[in-house]
Amino acid sequence: MKSKLIVFTFTVLALTARSQIRAAEEPTPLEIAMDTMLDQVKAVKKALDPNVDLSKFPELVDKAILGQKAAKDALFLVPPFTADQPEDQQALFLASYKKSIALLIVTWIDLEVALRNKDGEGAKAAFQTLMDQKVAGHGTFQPPHP
Ligand code: HEM
Repeated sequence: MKSKLIVFTFTVLALTARSQIRAAEEPTPLEIAMDTMLDQVKAVKKALDPNVDLSKFPELVDKAILGQKAAKDALFLVPPFTADQPEDQQALFLASYKKSIALLIVTWIDLEVALRNKDGEGAKAAFQTLMDQKVAGHGTFQPPHP
């Protein structure tokens, strides 16, 4: 009886630990939004690099819209790095983050317009702006790499 109780206790402990590990690994809503944008970026890049493939533009419009929606999801989420800012700077940090994400939404829309117009140069320019905004956004709103 005693050994059954011990086995039962260990099983419960193991299951609890496993579900806690799983919860820790689950992506946050902000990570999901960012990963969704990355998927769209990868798909669009294939049609622009190394050569512009105008025939792919119509099917990429949906990707540009998904990018807009993911950026919209990110708009009112809070980057974890906010908590590392001095307390009296956190609201400003967050406002600055929101502005950067709002500008990112506009760039996704610029990309949609260029794709719909079959404007290769416009699409390349919008894509480059997305990449620049990504680098700048990560530089400011993510903790510096160790
Ligand atoms: C098209 C542009 C962008 C792409 C493709 C992109 C992609 C990503 C990816 C793949 C991650 C890692 C997510 C994960 O850990 O699962 C990430 C994290 C993050 N990105 Fe972006 N990003 C973009 C633009 C931006 C911009 C403009 C900002 C800020 C204004 C930003 C802020 C962040 C932050 C704060 C994190 C950390 C999230 C967290 O740890 O919870 N990103 N991004």
